Amino acid sequence: MANFVIRGGKRLQGSVSISGSKNAALPLIAAAVLTRKPCVLEDIPSLTDIDNMISIAQELGVSIKTQQDHIRIFANKLTSAAATYEHMGKLRASILFASVLLSTMGRATIAIPGGCILGPRPTDLHELVFRRMGAVIRVRHGQYELTAKKLKGACIDFPHVSVGATQQALLAAACAEGTTILSNASIEPETMQLVDFLRAAGVDIGVENRTMKISGVSRLSGVRMRVIPDRIEAGTFLLLAGMLQGNDIRIQNVNPEHLATPIKIAHALGIRTEIKQNVMRAYRDRALTGQHIMAKPYPGFPTDLQPIVAAALARAAGKSVVKDTVFSERFAYINELNRLGAGITVKGDAAHIPGGASLSGANVTATDLRAGAALVLAASAAENTTMISGIEHIQRGYMMFDAKLKKLGMDITCRSQSQ
Ligand code: UD1
Repeated sequence: MANFVIRGGKRLQGSVSISGSKNAALPLIAAAVLTRKPCVLEDIPSLTDIDNMISIAQELGVSIKTQQDHIRIFANKLTSAAATYEHMGKLRASILFASVLLSTMGRATIAIPGGCILGPRPTDLHELVFRRMGAVIRVRHGQYELTAKKLKGACIDFPHVSVGATQQALLAAACAEGTTILSNASIEPETMQLVDFLRAAGVDIGVENRTMKISGVSRLSGVRMRVIPDRIEAGTFLLLAGMLQGNDIRIQNVNPEHLATPIKIAHALGIRTEIKQNVMRAYRDRALTGQHIMAKPYPGFPTDLQPIVAAALARAAGKSVVKDTVFSERFAYINELNRLGAGITVKGDAAHIPGGASLSGANVTATDLRAGAALVLAASAAENTTMISGIEHIQRGYMMFDAKLKKLGMDITCRSQSQ
């Protein structure tokens, strides 16, 4: 167990390079297994979530070789159709192996997955995909036991947008018999990269607005693909630039198109940007102003930046209101931000942020991945020292976060609890 110890108030200046996207890489690992052919994924971030996804694939008999930021995946011999709780319990995306195993082995025993606790995280839309595509589902001992001789194309109209269930359906439809039509699908950049991967593997996929038409094929080809830059990590550094007047951060390896809404919101807040191709300079030379922000599915403001923007809004002049239509109860981080003096109250489905907070250091706990990042931002602007425990959550999703922050000038130390 380790903590971050941050002495706030240091102006942050310099360059940071954004890593490959964790949430794009995870479904690509599942898709690479589905192809049963040699695949190479480039710019894979070194993170515990990725290690766990790889461990699950290895448990199934997949050969995976890691070489710096590349991984080579070859699933020619699958030896097991069962993924146990040991790794499944640690990350949500592990549920994507269900479709992969159903397609390749005709059965799957999958422990019901874990991941960040962001309020209720049901799996009914994944079940909808399994059932509509012809799988028989049994839930026993905390596991899905799924069987399907052959998955069949289906029309699936999602009652609301789900990133994971859309990705599950894409993986299931790729090798299903016939055509699948998805309505109200996720069009997050991470889902679109899965679409690109499956197209490169030979699947014909049409996308129009939120409707996808997938024609299943009997064989897939191997694919080599570079993972897209992590838009949530980039958005985190963009908002970090707003924490103190004088912060000036050059964020490299960014896809500005994927960040259109966060950039718009950052401008409204008072953070300035200059963008040249895939490099974004973000800086603050004036006071921040309060905003009303609502997290929505892409292309809306991402729920994963919702706790992080709340940290910036705590410093803004004037009141702000933050709502989250994706995870309506994603406010567990507020108690911890309030320990630093943010003064936020939750009424119904909205966080009310009074603004103008002079934050002061305290001992706090990262309750989940993005909550942890929000605390780091707040600590960077707080007077005195903040000690953040629970940083294993942060390390699930931000590669070398403390090293990147230190390079920008933050006074941050990672200490093991025994120190
Ligand atoms: C993914 C991301 C996560 C992000 C989230 C929303 C990964 C690994 N994780 O999570 O970082 O916060 O998208 O952008 O990519 N829902 C159901 N039933 C289901 C599935 C989901 O009701 O079967 C609900 C959820 O509770 C939530 C909403 O749908 O309210 C969206 O969740 P979803 O998009 O599925 O999130 P994940 O794919 O789990």
